[in-house]
Amino acid sequence: MMEFTYYGHSCFLIEIDGNKILFDPFISGNPLIEEFYLSTIKADYILISHGHEDHIADLMEIAKNTKALVIATAEIADWVVNQGYENVHPINFGSKSFPFGDLYFVPAAHSSSLPDGSYGGNPGGFVVKTKNGAFYYAGDTCLTMDMQLIPLYADLDWAILPIGGNFTMDYKDAVHCSEFIKCDKVVGVHFDTFGFIEINHEHAKSYFNEKGKKLVLPEIGKTVTLSK
Ligand code: NI
Ligand code: MN
Repeated sequence: MMEFTYYGHSCFLIEIDGNKILFDPFISGNPLIEEFYLSTIKADYILISHGHEDHIADLMEIAKNTKALVIATAEIADWVVNQGYENVHPINFGSKSFPFGDLYFVPAAHSSSLPDGSYGGNPGGFVVKTKNGAFYYAGDTCLTMDMQLIPLYADLDWAILPIGGNFTMDYKDAVHCSEFIKCDKVVGVHFDTFGFIEINHEHAKSYFNEKGKKLVLPEIGKTVTLSK
């Protein structure tokens, strides 16, 4: 069983088998969030898809609060160390086992610079495979042919996909993605935060329903169970 807590934009926490895995911390700069105390977040691991501000703005503060292991590209990991935080694990495209399960860092077609303009390495997404469930978080990306490789790694229970368009795929391409990755259950992220990525919720959900798929649009601050 996986518990999904949404912190807005592409920031969410997945709790699985007692491990708390936080993705892409961007909360304090989110215009949809009035008040939030970063110190309330608990995490064992922080996974970063790419270096853009709207994915790492609160990384350093949450990392220092939680002492979580930060898993990111070697370039981002170096940047984190240079900011004064040592508990990092550098990766690049490929696979590695962690105490929470098997992790695959897979390509995203996007860009990745850090807030100071330095190079963040390649942008990516994550496949997380544990004994109690598997999921894919695509990061920021358009639809790619590479997504068809993901079923080779894991029989996915859920996918967390960007659906806001403009900077990433939109919800229509998220349906194509769900075909590629062989996963009908999708949590949408990276929508509504800024004007460029506002979507019509009902249109998005009914588009998924028409194709026999499920789209969850999470509410900020709420936790939902992602069943197997
Ligand atoms: Ni981005
Ligand atoms: Mn983004």
